[in-house]
Parts: sequence; C-alpha cells; structure tokens
Amino acid sequence: MSSNKTTLNTEQIRKDFPILNRKIHGKQLVYLDNAATSQKPRQVIEAIDDYYKNHNANIHRSIHTLGEEATEKYEEAHEKTAEFINADSYQNIIFTKNTTESLNLLAYSLTSKLKKGDEIVISQMEHHSNFVPWQQLAKQRDLKLKFIKINEEGLLDADSINENITKKTKIVSVTHVSNVLGTINPVKDIAKITHENNALMIADGAQSAPHMPIDVKNIDVDFYAFSGHKMLGPTGIGVLYGKRELLEEMNPFLYGGEMIREVKFDDTKFNDLPWKFEAGTMNIAEGIGLSAAIDYLNNIGMEQIQKRDNELIDYAVKRLKEIKDLTIYGPEERGAVVSFNLKSIHAHDVSQILDSEGIAIRAGHHCCMPLMSVLKVPATARASFYLYNTEKEIDKLISALHKVKKMFGD
Ligand SMILES: Cc1ncc(COP(=O)(O)O)c(C=O)c1O
Repeated sequence: MSSNKTTLNTEQIRKDFPILNRKIHGKQLVYLDNAATSQKPRQVIEAIDDYYKNHNANIHRSIHTLGEEATEKYEEAHEKTAEFINADSYQNIIFTKNTTESLNLLAYSLTSKLKKGDEIVISQMEHHSNFVPWQQLAKQRDLKLKFIKINEEGLLDADSINENITKKTKIVSVTHVSNVLGTINPVKDIAKITHENNALMIADGAQSAPHMPIDVKNIDVDFYAFSGHKMLGPTGIGVLYGKRELLEEMNPFLYGGEMIREVKFDDTKFNDLPWKFEAGTMNIAEGIGLSAAIDYLNNIGMEQIQKRDNELIDYAVKRLKEIKDLTIYGPEERGAVVSFNLKSIHAHDVSQILDSEGIAIRAGHHCCMPLMSVLKVPATARASFYLYNTEKEIDKLISALHKVKKMFGD
C-alpha cells in the first residue's frame, strides 16, 4: 500500500552528491536550479570514471575485449532507458545529445510526411527547443503552426486543444511539464485527440522524465524526448523514444559511419533500429553515465521521488505565498518548479542577491520568450527542486527573499 508520505532518506541521498558540500561566497550551497540541470551523484561520476579508466574503446566496430565491453555497456544503457519509460525494446530508444536534438531530429525526419498547408500544433508554453524547430520547419515548408492557448491559471485551455487539433493537423508537440509554470499537461488525453485526427503526438519530457514514473505505452505518445543531465546523468546525452513502425519508416537525421548496413557506390542500406539514427561515434561515456543515473533513480523509486517533489513544491509554494507582493505563476497542482516575481524588482536582481547568499535559482525567460509575452513579464525568478533538496533550504530561500525586499526598500 502506498502512503502519501515519502520514505526517501534525504540526508542519506545528500551524501551521494559531492557538490552539495560546496560553499558559495562563504555560504553553504543551496541548489534550486534543477530544472536547468540536476547535480550528479558519485555513482554517476564513478561510472564515467570507471569507463574511461577501464573500458574505453569505440563501440560496434572493434572485436577486441575493450570494444566488446564498451559496446555491451552502451547497449545496456539503451535497454535500461527503455525499461525506465516502459518502452517495448532498446530499439525504440535513440540516444541524442539532449532534448533539443531529439526534437530537431523529429522536425527534420518527419518533413517527408508533410506537404504545403499541413498544420503543426504546439502550445504557448513550449520551451524554445519545442518551438523554434517547428516554427522554422513551418516557414521552410509552407506549413501552418498553431498554438494551444493557456488559461489564466496556466493550464492548457481545453477548448483551445479541441479547436486547434483538426483533420488538417499532422503533428502535435506539447511539453509534458512546463519548465516555467510547472503545469502538468494531460498528454495522454491530447494524444487521444491527436490520434483521432490521424496526427502524430510528441511529448517533450525534459521536465517529466526526471520527476515521475513514465509509461510511454500508457500515455500512448508516438515520440517522447528527454535529457540525461536533468535526471542525475551527465550532459551530452539525450533520449528520443519513438514507436517502432514510425522510426522504421523515418529517414535518418544524420548520415555517416555506423548508421549503415551496407554502402555501395550508388546506394546505402541503413542499419537496424536504433543505430540507424546514431551516426558517427556517439557519446559513449555519457550513455553509460545515464545508465548509472537510471540505476540510482530506480533504487529510490520514481514514485517516491515524485512524492518527495510534491512535498517540496507544496512547502515552497506555501512559504512563498507568505511573502507580500510576490506573484506566483502557474496552477496549484504543479511539477517541481515554481516561477515568481517580486513587485518592482527584476528577477535578475533577485537571483544575484540570492547568489550572494549561496542560493542558486534561475532568472530570465527560461527559453520560453513567447510564454513570457503571454504572461506579460520580461522574466521570472524560478526555483526548482529535486530529491536532494530540503525544507530547510526552502526556508533559506524565503529568508533571502525577505532580505532582497529589504534591500529594495520594502
Ligand atoms: C521543457 C523543456 N524542454 C526542452 C528543454 C531543452 O533541454 P536541453 O537543453 O537539455 O536540450 C528544456 C530545458 O530546460 C525544458 O525545460
């Protein structure tokens, strides 16, 4: 039976993250910028270290022991990633550089399915990486890009979903969790509407894969993209999940070594999935690092992590609401991120003063300029949480925000 309270041992977990011992300007680091990138446990750092010290070789080509060990570890990383999101097989899992590359791969490889006048639907809250590729594709191919509106609460407007997704729609690409508002979008419902209109459904999982159990079969998206570095893994490794029949018929994004089965002077046969989409020497160490990160997350359990995130965000929002003249953006029910502004104080000033207190948050447009224009603000401050954060750190954030207000004469 699952209880609402998490059994996760934060104190123990924190010991695994060497960077959390850092002092910033003489103060203990409080890292609340997890939506930008997460910190790395020693298990991940050691897995990468071990790979380079003991197993380094290129994959899928050398028949010596090191080559075989590296290949086995890299392939195992695909298998673990498939299990992590409940995909059928490693063949559904393409390693990329990050979410951005996964989405660009799709924008490029799906072009052959599109013709003039076809429609692509995204939302007003998309990160630039799920925005600019579609915008540019639409411009280049004479397609129409449409936007699902957000309502006052910061949720996707249900009428706008139904109005925008029609028989003319070919692709719908929506973020699972907003990196600004924290909104958890009903991707399963949107996928259903998308499929009823014979279109393809893509979910940007950059902010969901690190924080909740993901079952791609249950949500029934056609593609799902996420980044290793936001889920305790290293930078330089991203994931694109795709349904097999779709990946089979898609053209590769990159051509070159290892993505081929046979090359003749006049033609090339492509490799099997997923290698058809992994051209050239890949980020092998980073893939192995991601594998270690997945082990780490699985050992704790994604349900526990989600519960802990909920505890942290609920506490943070409750405490932020105590501060006068502080506006919070986004719905009550949210992922592990909260954006806010202090009246008459620019978010960059807030962030800078917080940094002098050892507290790392992000300030700016969060790669969501169109959303900022909808919210009618140039920027927000954003605190984002993960499994190693504590209520005490949130208390420090609140005290520091009071200090910011005082410095600005409030
Ligand atoms: C919702 C969302 N999508 C996409 C991205 C892009 O991720 P990456 O920079 O790892 O490609 C981010 C990163 O912050 C994000 O929050």
